[in-house]
Amino acid sequence: MKVSDRLGSIPMSGIRKMFDLAGPDSVNLGLGEPDLCPPKEAIDGMNRAAAEGLNKYGPTAGIPELRRGVAEWFSGYADLTADNIMITPSGSSALLEITQAFIDPGDEVLVPSPGFVIYSPHTRLAGGIPVEYKLTEGDFVPDIDDITSLITKKTKMIVINSPSNPTGGVLDKATYKAILDLAEDTGVMILSDEVYDAYVYDDEHHSFMSHLDKAVVVNGFSKMMAVTGWRMGLICTGKEVMNDLVKMQYHVCASPNMPAQYGILNALPVMDGYLKNARDVFRARRDLITKRINEIDGMHITPPKGAFYAFPSYDLDMRSEELANILAGNGLICTPGSSFGKYGEGHLRFSYAADEKKINAGMDILEETIGELRRE
Ligand SMILES: Cc1ncc(COP(=O)(O)O)c(C=O)c1O
Repeated sequence: MKVSDRLGSIPMSGIRKMFDLAGPDSVNLGLGEPDLCPPKEAIDGMNRAAAEGLNKYGPTAGIPELRRGVAEWFSGYADLTADNIMITPSGSSALLEITQAFIDPGDEVLVPSPGFVIYSPHTRLAGGIPVEYKLTEGDFVPDIDDITSLITKKTKMIVINSPSNPTGGVLDKATYKAILDLAEDTGVMILSDEVYDAYVYDDEHHSFMSHLDKAVVVNGFSKMMAVTGWRMGLICTGKEVMNDLVKMQYHVCASPNMPAQYGILNALPVMDGYLKNARDVFRARRDLITKRINEIDGMHITPPKGAFYAFPSYDLDMRSEELANILAGNGLICTPGSSFGKYGEGHLRFSYAADEKKINAGMDILEETIGELRRE
């Protein structure tokens, strides 16, 4: 049996490849998965729902109480109601549903580079053509001149991801406004992936939820509540396209996980305190990993402003995949920058969703390995 050309043309994610290389004693700074416990209220709420028999199919767009609760949770960004929110079986499937819903064969989609690994494959699965746009070096915000030069008659969508995986970059106000102007002038729609909005350390998050005439927004509970295994996400969109997205989701999964929705609903009231603590923990780790990297001769990083990734550059004349393989051999798992697109080469991604002991152990291996390679 032969798979479709669309699927056949897509490589396996470089993040998973590195994960498969990890030995039992490796220091794993490869995966973007918070090591914190989920809020107890989430687990209690899910268990209670399952015990009470809420184990059947539910409404396709998610249970109304949770849609209302989520609209209220994001009310600091925009005036939203339950009709703006659809609960999805993960942020990843939310992104897939949106590209399937909006992209026709031949449409061009501008994707960030370096950027999260699924935007280009999702575009291809919809028959579209991914076009990588550059992020600025250092701060890693979208390079507006580069984007402008790439827009053609076929450009349908631009993907924005702030805070960013893999760079930790956070959109500043001027760039945010420039993207909105560009969407206004060209008619290109914005797909804004905001799954790390809760993790901004030095600045504020600029959400496209306040511009649903131009943008469809994805968020999720994986990173927010440390429940990556529950597979729960959401789409926030204008009411006029919601019916089409609900139709799309019906054909993907009929309805999202029922007990998990009740768990999330039960945890929403405690999330302010939970996230304040999580941000404090991650900020301290961000400071630690930034300091350790900048102490290594030949490695450079501007402190990332959000998410939980460090994306330093290095001075060696070596491809990032080769360097990541050498590090894996020495017991440190990270992700080569080239996994995140053509502008990711020359970098490594470290996830600091790991405790300080692991970060220090990983940085010791990095320091030693880079030192040896520079002496060769
Ligand atoms: C930028 C970004 N968007 C979306 C996702 C998908 O998250 P999930 O499918 O767990 O909701 C991830 C996961 O790593 C991510 O980094």
